[in-house]
Amino acid sequence: MFIIKKITSALPLPQFLIKNQNFNMKKLLLAAGVIIFSVTSFSQSLSIIPAPASVTLNQGTFTITPSTKIILEAPAAKKSADFFNKYLKEYYGFTLPVAKEKTAESNAVILNFDKMENSIPGAYNLSVDKNKVYIGGDNEQGIFYGIQTLIQLLPVEKSTSLAIKQCNIIDSPRFAYRGLHLDCGRHFFSVDFVKQYIDFIALHKMNTFHWHLTEDQGWRIEIKKYPLLTQVGSCRNGTATGHNKESDNIKYCGYYTQEQIKEVVKYAADRYITIIPEIEMPGHGLAALAAYPYLGCTKGPYQVGQKWGVFPDVFCAGNDSTYKFIENVLDEVMALFPSKYIHIGGDECPKTRWQTCPVCQARIKSEGLKDEHALQSYFIQRIEKYLNSKGRQIIGWDEILEGGLAPNATVMSWRGEQGGIDAAKQHHKVVMTPGSYVYFDHSQSKKEDSLTIGGDLPLQVVYNYEPIPAALTADEANYVLGAQANVWSEYMANPAKVEYMLFPRLSALSEVLWSGKGNKNWDDFLTRMQAQYKRYDLWKVMYNTKGINKGE
Ligand code: ACM
Ligand code: ZN
Repeated sequence: MFIIKKITSALPLPQFLIKNQNFNMKKLLLAAGVIIFSVTSFSQSLSIIPAPASVTLNQGTFTITPSTKIILEAPAAKKSADFFNKYLKEYYGFTLPVAKEKTAESNAVILNFDKMENSIPGAYNLSVDKNKVYIGGDNEQGIFYGIQTLIQLLPVEKSTSLAIKQCNIIDSPRFAYRGLHLDCGRHFFSVDFVKQYIDFIALHKMNTFHWHLTEDQGWRIEIKKYPLLTQVGSCRNGTATGHNKESDNIKYCGYYTQEQIKEVVKYAADRYITIIPEIEMPGHGLAALAAYPYLGCTKGPYQVGQKWGVFPDVFCAGNDSTYKFIENVLDEVMALFPSKYIHIGGDECPKTRWQTCPVCQARIKSEGLKDEHALQSYFIQRIEKYLNSKGRQIIGWDEILEGGLAPNATVMSWRGEQGGIDAAKQHHKVVMTPGSYVYFDHSQSKKEDSLTIGGDLPLQVVYNYEPIPAALTADEANYVLGAQANVWSEYMANPAKVEYMLFPRLSALSEVLWSGKGNKNWDDFLTRMQAQYKRYDLWKVMYNTKGINKGE
């Protein structure tokens, strides 16, 4: 006796119905009742988020104890074994011995490769029988994602005897880019918290961490050639209180050393997560201007920002020394971050200084540019050319469309979906991050009891987000790599607040990015979330359950 759940738009008819050609309507209704009952009982039995492509729940259990061995039939599965052992140690207080050869067929967690058909890396199959757990990954990531599912099969109560249900799971991701961002400019977060944040990404089968490292209110990355960036630019003399009111006049500092960054990049890579660093330009650069005033049009003096918003002082786009500075910074950034993409910002750059700066105006003339918007495009294209010459690609916020898109740029669509639609129609790659669906700085409920930037983004809106805009043809849709949630930290001064804004929306986002459209079901998700809340408790993270129903 087993129960099959494959949540597709049309539930498959069970075998006994297909074989019996003489069934009548009463039997069909009865069978439908069985299916509905099965789905419900399944949901209460296995609560995997994001929903896998296919799950078969069988009878019986297998129990993981400290004597269970992890067997690396694929030696490349070591990172996955290490992650599992770290998780077991942290939350259950024990680890499993790891064997490199097939030393046991039973009482084992076997990690291996199994070729699977999926164009996006990360497919896996997982089976639990009375003797063992078997995970076969299409590639290394696939094994790792199988481990994330295994983690969700574990009971949440701390014990050294972890009974898991026998089952068969076949699974693969929908989108190649499954991202989460963190703004470490407005508020600084410790290396320890950044690592924990990366674990949250991994536990949700996501694969990209967009690390926002420079802002008006703080430069957070050590650049050896320009020590004042951190000596001056990483500190502000105060922080806006309330909703961007007066400064508290308390000095606020923080930056990551290059050694720390290397450590974080490795930590992420061990979890199959790429870090895309963001170095903001030509706007949101006030902290850099405070450190090196020659970078601005007026030459300063400048102060690191204390309030939130958009500042008129930006990098001078006329001066060659600005470009030299940025190239030197990017050289050090590229040495630290192996990612194909470097995020160059590009958003919210006022043109007021450029309009009156003789050097910027001379550049407009000498390059035959139409106006200051074309000057921004010139700026971005010049940086793109430099990064392309080093084998890297740029990604930028959708303002980089204005004045003409750089030839190879990937666009992050944040002011709604239109930027993504325009870029995809021009056959540029796109990551969707529209504010009304995936800006996790908005409140989760209308009854929010803490200070946030405002707005209202309930769990269900995130869950129902469809990253492929309806305006795109099937061919254009291929340019949409995936989506990302952004976590801007103006009103998140500590890790607990970040978590409170992140959870449970991150779980909804993971299902948007991983699960096939036909595998999504809001009511079923809510049922599975009951177990996920217990996992949050196990992880000791903050989460917000207000407003889950209709966002009230
Ligand atoms: C942005 O939210 N300014 C990209
Ligand atoms: Zn200028």
